[in-house]
Amino acid sequence: MRILAIESSCDESAAAYLEVKGGRVACFEHLVATQAIHAKYGGVVPEVAAREHSTTLPLVLAGLAKKITGDEDGVALGRKVDVVAVTRGPGLVTSLKVGVDTARALAAAWNKKVVGVNHIDGHVRAAWLPGAPLEFALKNSRGVFPALVLVVSGGHTELLLMRDEARYTLLGATRDDAAGEAFDKAAKLMDLGYPGGPAISRLAAEGDATAFPFPRPMISDPHFDFSFSGLKTAVRYFLQREREKLSDPQFVRDAAASIEQAIVDVLVVKTVRAAEIMRVKTVILAGGVAANVKLRRALGAELAARLPGIRYAEPPLQYCTDNAAMIAMAGYFAARRDKFDKWQKMEADPGWELGR
Ligand code: KG4
Ligand code: ZN
Repeated sequence: MRILAIESSCDESAAAYLEVKGGRVACFEHLVATQAIHAKYGGVVPEVAAREHSTTLPLVLAGLAKKITGDEDGVALGRKVDVVAVTRGPGLVTSLKVGVDTARALAAAWNKKVVGVNHIDGHVRAAWLPGAPLEFALKNSRGVFPALVLVVSGGHTELLLMRDEARYTLLGATRDDAAGEAFDKAAKLMDLGYPGGPAISRLAAEGDATAFPFPRPMISDPHFDFSFSGLKTAVRYFLQREREKLSDPQFVRDAAASIEQAIVDVLVVKTVRAAEIMRVKTVILAGGVAANVKLRRALGAELAARLPGIRYAEPPLQYCTDNAAMIAMAGYFAARRDKFDKWQKMEADPGWELGR
């Protein structure tokens, strides 16, 4: 099966091509264009994002066509494709619509099947991409399920149970801010720019994570929900109190490391506890915050120490933040179960949540 995938749910215009033959990925290319303009506003402005997608996405698709066929021409690319996959939700409605309408047009013009993909399902399927831990479980998923997924992105923080390849059950979610949002808001308070996660983790690498005791909300609660807004408030008061120290680079590094540690501790403790209670075989880390090195290491180490025998599937770094490779993989899983949409009717669904 040969899949062309499109992702435009937030501020990345991305396209990918994935060919699966005999249960193995035979050919694979992807391109991502990140909209730099939002750094100027300190966050994503929906209308600006949609306008950028409508300019950039056709160029990204032409670039991908050139990589696959040697030609920017869409006709040549269309001959190579069986299925068009696209992120249908969740995300910003105007951004999603640019991708969805592009996919509908391509499916109609090429006379191909189309499949609308859930963006979070895409993040999860990054664990099956080439070079990822579940790469060889594409054909035979014996020993993978039940699996627990920790989704950590700019808009989501949740624990999902996958009983099998297709079924998600929501175990818990954030009651306020997402983990990525906590990173982004803390970074904003420290004037570190947008997106804040990469900036905080860069500084944190040279900081003392035990310097300041920030709160770890809900870490000991038996349920699987999260809350990060209290941490943001604690960081705000802390920075108001210590404002004059912000000019000291080591103070900033120590604050960044302490904030990062607080977020990572909550995520790791609650995930390991859920994995133990749900008796899963695999723990999958998914979403933009999965690029955080401290989280990757801490979760891997804690699982190995507390629950040896559980498989830990962290996505390769380049597929953590938004991309279309993961959407292509999710499209493959949906298409092999015949979950197609009709291009005449397919619509963006900004509120589409998994497992609820
Ligand atoms: O999945 P993603 O690319 O977009 C959404 O679907 O939301 O996630 C973006 C989030 C942002 O909040 C960003 O700050 C965070 O992922 N992020 C990180 C790192 N890289 C990206 N957070 C912590 N450490 C990182 N290295
Ligand atoms: Zn995402």
